[in-house]
Amino acid sequence: MSRLLWTRRRFSRMAAAAALCPPLLAERRFAPASGPDVNGPNSLRAHGAAAGVLTGCAVVPELLDFDQGNASPDAEAYTRTVAEQAGILVAENAMKWSSLRPTASTYNFTPADKLFAFAAAYQQQVRGHNLCWHEQLPAWFSSVATKDNAASLLTQHIQTVAGRYAGRVHSWDVVNEAVYLQDSRPDGLRNSPWLQLIGPSYIELAFTAAAKADPHAKLTYNDYDIELDTPEQTAKRGQVLLLVRRLVARGIPIQAIGIQSHLQATGPKPGSGLLSLIREVAKLGLEVYITEMDVNTHQLEGGSDVQDAAVAEVYKSYLGMVLAEPNVKAFLTWGITDAHTWLNQIRQPWTIRPDGSRQRPLPFDDEYRPTPAFFAIRSAIDTARRPVSQPSSNAPQQPVSDPYAPFAVPGSPGTAPQPRPDGTPKPDA
Ligand code: XIL
Repeated sequence: MSRLLWTRRRFSRMAAAAALCPPLLAERRFAPASGPDVNGPNSLRAHGAAAGVLTGCAVVPELLDFDQGNASPDAEAYTRTVAEQAGILVAENAMKWSSLRPTASTYNFTPADKLFAFAAAYQQQVRGHNLCWHEQLPAWFSSVATKDNAASLLTQHIQTVAGRYAGRVHSWDVVNEAVYLQDSRPDGLRNSPWLQLIGPSYIELAFTAAAKADPHAKLTYNDYDIELDTPEQTAKRGQVLLLVRRLVARGIPIQAIGIQSHLQATGPKPGSGLLSLIREVAKLGLEVYITEMDVNTHQLEGGSDVQDAAVAEVYKSYLGMVLAEPNVKAFLTWGITDAHTWLNQIRQPWTIRPDGSRQRPLPFDDEYRPTPAFFAIRSAIDTARRPVSQPSSNAPQQPVSDPYAPFAVPGSPGTAPQPRPDGTPKPDA
């Protein structure tokens, strides 16, 4: 395909994606007071759609001015930005156990329902996050959950939540962060409440229940600290791959992995190990989603210009690398504006900057102006997804080591058996 034809096709797909933005907000759309127009066909959403990458962000449903009532200027700007920029949404907190389950016998679906209604109005897809995690469990959990009832508690939760939104979810983070090498188990699994109550089979239980409740959603295993080539992250990445291989070999329904991608502006950079993981799961037939990207500058000295340049550079190099992989189908940032990022809300040594200034990890700043990260993301989307005949120059073409070689994992019982070509596990699996 000629470059010109490709560009024309891409432009018409962008225009089509932009035209999808419904009148509800389009009537109220206004261009930024100064600076480039980043809305409509110039948005991340439209560029992502044109390139075949579902692009979006985590949201706080309470800030979405869905009724266009008496919203604050902040909620209005937030709503406009989310509607313009995101082709896919995920609840930052509203669909976790602690939000959905005020008591053991009641559910609060109000914020999650609002998110789904908003997404439907703006033709956005939705990721579900999450069905099973060791964190953000409700206060009642530890006194109610027992070894006798935990399996049915988990199954019923999944039936109720995934069942309620069945057919409307692009992908579910069925199990979140189940691998944790510091707990020193040979299988690499985290000694989470779920593992303590049910045993390692809780993971299979969760995926099987999710498949039953929503056969259309892509069922995803989601994790963090698997991006770098440091010894710790290489080992963790290896255990994640072994876990996924075990699930596939046993015929458990899993269709994707989520790579959270909470990256740092300083220190080691992601490299060939991550590419190997992406290609290994592609061989298993799985998709990959970049689920929670942001760039933390807590160890970076310098003013906001220095911060912006470093953050933009991480987005550019990271997306240039991962989006060149054809099975990477979605990319979400963990929030859309610095005004509401968790990195400015959680006051911890791993979030506080040397000079005490605010973090700027996202494509829009505190005043909803596009940051250098916005432009880095947009051009990475444009350039990384070239037609197959024009491989991206950003992706290492010849990884130093064999990308398909199994990872050496200290303490690992060995590489899990491969599934047969027809998908059934080997008898000894
Ligand atoms: C974070 C939220 O952003 C915070 O608001 C909350 O206080 C803690 O959880 N990995 C995940 C997300 O899978 O659910 C986490 O979200 C960030 C790390």
